[in-house]
Amino acid sequence: MSTPVHGARRTRGHDVLVIGGGLIGLVTAWRAAQRGLSAAVADPDPGGGATHVAAGMLAAVTELQYGEQALLDLNLASAARYPDFVAELTELTGLDTGFRPCGTLAVALDADDRAQLRDLHAFQLTLGLSAHWLSGRECRRLEPLLAPGVRGGLRVDGDHQVDPRRLAAALLRAAELAGVAFHRSPVVRVIRSGDGGGTVTGALLADGGVIGADRTVLAAGSESGRFPGLPDEVLPPVRPVKGQILRLRVPAGHGPFLSRTVRAVVRGSHVYLVPRENGELVLGATSEEFGWDTTVTAGGVYELLRDAHELVPGITELPLTEMIAGLRPGSPDNAPLLGPTALDGLLLATGHHRNGVLLTPVTGDALADLLTSGELPDYAAPFTAARFVRQEQSV
Ligand code: GLY
Repeated sequence: MSTPVHGARRTRGHDVLVIGGGLIGLVTAWRAAQRGLSAAVADPDPGGGATHVAAGMLAAVTELQYGEQALLDLNLASAARYPDFVAELTELTGLDTGFRPCGTLAVALDADDRAQLRDLHAFQLTLGLSAHWLSGRECRRLEPLLAPGVRGGLRVDGDHQVDPRRLAAALLRAAELAGVAFHRSPVVRVIRSGDGGGTVTGALLADGGVIGADRTVLAAGSESGRFPGLPDEVLPPVRPVKGQILRLRVPAGHGPFLSRTVRAVVRGSHVYLVPRENGELVLGATSEEFGWDTTVTAGGVYELLRDAHELVPGITELPLTEMIAGLRPGSPDNAPLLGPTALDGLLLATGHHRNGVLLTPVTGDALADLLTSGELPDYAAPFTAARFVRQEQSV
């Protein structure tokens, strides 16, 4: 079925239209423009959405999960690109991204946490990853404000942090400088044409504009799984996973608070504290599967503060500056969906779940390769949407 658009204003056609101006959409458009393609981004609020909420941990090793070794390889490939990636952005734009190569300390608060962290450490070592076991006393020597009850921890020197808001601002500027066109209007739907509507040719905007493009990249985060204009069998299996996050401020003159990211699993919930050089302290995050709700709840705030207080009692002195919730684009195997779909002209860059910030550099490179050569690079090939189609057919 084709989807003609009556009475619409047609804008100039592009080589590439990216739907979604979060980190993933911005990096895709920027890298495409750098390779000589004419690129556009459609998003009413570039840098908003989950990008605006995320803490910005680059935690390939400390967030390692059993059974996710393929994702680990992609995460590590992206982490390795980060220093050059942010240096290139700063050189081009003059904007700082808040990248802080400070490492991470994952700690255990009770005997169960300690056993779990010991297992994770053994697993990390079997994979050749760099992580060092520390006693509780050694953890407190590194981070003196940790609670006396900390029973041990893992020092991971390669898991760093970046400020997603500043990174998005730098990407937006770099994209503008590279000639990317920004359409700040919501996308009403994807436009299809050809036999049976089998080719995506752009998008219809809420302001009445039609953006024509040879290739359209769906990078709409959690919205990707219900994007209008796409048949059910092409919609990526992406769902919203809510995260509530708090921002606190370490006042000037307070003295050192934390020098690196600190995280723990407290009664089964992940809690992390991400200290920025400018005094901001980000405290996250809940993980809730309640659909499209982004309200900040008393329960969410209570749990975050309770768990963080067990970890670092001194946080209760700090001013609380922001409470916010966003939606991670969850996928069935927690890994992103990159590359082609069953529709000509439609590509995916979505489903990055807990790793969108970390995977920004490698996603930009992979999509730029695909857009210019027609092939995904080997490191991205395991992450096409075809992996889910194959699984469904084989049962
Ligand atoms: N990677 C951190 C989070 O998803 O909360």
